[in-house]
Amino acid sequence: MHAVIQNSVGGPDVLFVSEQPDPSPGPGEVLVRVKAAGINPVDGAVRGGFYPLLGDPPFILGWDISGTVEALGAGVTAVKVGDEVFGMPRFPKQAGAYAELAATPADEIAIKPAGIDHAHAAALPLAGLTAWQGLVRHGRIQSGQRALIHAGAGGVGHLAVQIAKARGAYVVSTASPDKLDFVGSLGADEVIDYTKSDFAKKACEFDLVLETVGGDHAEESLKVLRDGGVLVSLLNVHDTTKAKARERNIRVERMSVVPDREGLVELAKLVDAKKLSPHVAKTFPLDQAGAAQAFLATRPIGKVVLTV
Ligand SMILES: NC(=O)c1ccc[n+]([C@@H]2O[C@H](COP(=O)([O-])OP(=O)(O)OC[C@H]3O[C@@H](n4cnc5c(N)ncnc54)[C@H](OP(=O)(O)O)[C@@H]3O)[C@@H](O)[C@H]2O)c1
Repeated sequence: MHAVIQNSVGGPDVLFVSEQPDPSPGPGEVLVRVKAAGINPVDGAVRGGFYPLLGDPPFILGWDISGTVEALGAGVTAVKVGDEVFGMPRFPKQAGAYAELAATPADEIAIKPAGIDHAHAAALPLAGLTAWQGLVRHGRIQSGQRALIHAGAGGVGHLAVQIAKARGAYVVSTASPDKLDFVGSLGADEVIDYTKSDFAKKACEFDLVLETVGGDHAEESLKVLRDGGVLVSLLNVHDTTKAKARERNIRVERMSVVPDREGLVELAKLVDAKKLSPHVAKTFPLDQAGAAQAFLATRPIGKVVLTV
């Protein structure tokens, strides 16, 4: 098969396509013919050696897969050859999504939503599961609650806004000026231009904040949470912030997304019900994986996807 590999860490140009042995599915696994592979910020961090999840190169990047089941390992009954599937297998271990074929645990993929193509389905798993697990599992979001979603035009944020709306929340979200209309079109009840005004002065009394930006955002977010609310953060939260939160009975959940078949099924149901629509800013062919990662770093709206 062809796959994107790297022999050293570095900039986007360390990525290149090479001929690699076809993976074979072990017991409980399926072989997926990859049609599209989503790109996430973590890919670039691993590529560059800033976040050495996969150890030393060579390795095949990518966790977001959408494709067709090509072969079954022993004992697999949940899917059959020819099924169209999507998922975020093995995270944070190597999944090898930037490739023509990937062997994945059968219980970490689900049937692709029928109404979207592979490129859009590949935009969903990592960002969508992060949004789902953050809001629903960690945040226990309830209908009628006030939720603040930071970076509502980002990969995670644009899906989180839609999921929070689908769960009946009143949603406020932040974005830069040229992205405010997009975030409003997702159903956000209020959008805040974070370049013009401090979100902490514009809105308050949230039950839940989904923190996706880093820096002092977790600390600042405490100011807008009600006592007893919940701060779900995708990024590190300082001990001093956690201590302040405890004083006000605010629950702090520093989450890491995990493979989750049930979550994928829930995302697919929302897509089928037309309550969730992944936005793909641009697709790139497999041999332009470096350019695709560089494009994601320019902060396009939504997601960037490789088509295979
Ligand atoms: N812990 C986990 O399990 C997990 C899972 C997924 C992602 N993450 C991390 O979460 C972060 C977001 O991921 P992503 O996939 O959504 O990234 P992304 O697609 O690159 O989106 C990031 C967004 O942040 C916005 N932004 C930057 N500074 C901002 C600010 N001060 N206020 C509001 N928005 C701001 C950018 O848009 P503007 O042009 O509007 O600035 C951009 O849309 C990344 O650091 C990623 O590594 C963690």
